[in-house]
Amino acid sequence: MRNPKLEQLQPYPFERLRELHKNCEHLEGLEHISLSLGEPKHPAPSFVVEALADAQALTKQLGIYPATKGSDELRLAISDWLQRRFGIGTDPTTQILPVYGTREALFSVAQALLSGDEGSLVGMPNPFYQIYEGAALLAGARPLYIPNLAENGYRADFSGITPSQWEAIEMVYICSPGNPTGKLMSLDEMLQLIDLAHQYDFIVVSDECYSELYYDDQSIPCSLLQAASHYGDGSVRPFERCLSFHSLSKRSNLPGLRSGFVAGDIQLIQQYLSYRTYHGCAMSAHHQHASTLAWSDESHVQENRALYREKFAAVTKILAPYYDLEQPEGGFYHWMRTPIDDLGFSQRLLESQNITVMPGTFLGRDLGEGAQYTNPGQGHVRVAWVAGMEDCVIAAERLAEFARNL
Ligand SMILES: Cc1ncc(COP(=O)(O)O)c(C=O)c1O
Repeated sequence: MRNPKLEQLQPYPFERLRELHKNCEHLEGLEHISLSLGEPKHPAPSFVVEALADAQALTKQLGIYPATKGSDELRLAISDWLQRRFGIGTDPTTQILPVYGTREALFSVAQALLSGDEGSLVGMPNPFYQIYEGAALLAGARPLYIPNLAENGYRADFSGITPSQWEAIEMVYICSPGNPTGKLMSLDEMLQLIDLAHQYDFIVVSDECYSELYYDDQSIPCSLLQAASHYGDGSVRPFERCLSFHSLSKRSNLPGLRSGFVAGDIQLIQQYLSYRTYHGCAMSAHHQHASTLAWSDESHVQENRALYREKFAAVTKILAPYYDLEQPEGGFYHWMRTPIDDLGFSQRLLESQNITVMPGTFLGRDLGEGAQYTNPGQGHVRVAWVAGMEDCVIAAERLAEFARNL
């Protein structure tokens, strides 16, 4: 193998799940229900589908080499959305960049902006969305895991980071609402991190792809860019050292469209754009147009949120007598504590109820002997309530029955 960094990559959680389940057999004849993959299953908005199916427009759009920077109409729609949703004023020509969904952008931003210097660190939550780790490793940095432990209410705890580690950190990933924890980061917590970013000169990359799925109208997810607009004394550039990542996948049930954006610091956006120009990942014109329509409409998002709220209410009622679980503040996962170890739980659940969940162990990292905490995913499973109401209720009933028989 020529690139030794590839060898540092960990198997993806779904690969580990397949391996764990390879000898598990379900014999009862129940239909399989997957609660392991966070792939939204609510219908895509019909006006987006119709726009994509417009043959005349499509013929024209397919004849265009799109600009990496995206169309003016899309960046304007995103800028308007940021203003409406978060009250953030952005310049659509210099502070916004469309991307092919947040996954590729969360990955490539590290390749574009990290130095590759020996000893550089990238902070990321533990447990986490594994792309952050792969992004850091392939960019030649080492991951620094920031515990999000049950005993801290799953908050990201930065207090264990030493000054020399802060010096070595070039980038910190945060995720709010968190996957898998469903925890929100407050504006104050974000402000503290921005303060540290200025003190130690690192970039904050904020994964906000679940920001529109929340359950309490009194406590709605904020954006890093909101915190950045509250920051300081005017001695820093607007959004300096801050980038926020959003997606249509969860908000608008369009995971197959591959559409999102990055917004923030003009200098970082400029550098990232220059990387992307070479990388060759401009969004096609018809996807840009469909995305413009999706960012410009809020009613389908409200309906989507209402559907998740109904589902969480229904499944929580069924599960609460049997499981130790909390309503997530955002996202569509229950980060559920398991009455037995999570790997065994997931195997036995598949065998007896034909349901797949993601063992928490696969979403966290064990830092080895002498560490102050063990793998924080242990003793949890991540349950994705993405299927339709009927399937979710059936799955919750099977989960309840499983617990009764344990
Ligand atoms: C935390 C988190 N970030 C980013 C993504 C990527 O989503 P997309 O690339 O569809 O925007 C996901 C998808 O599951 C996720 O859970």
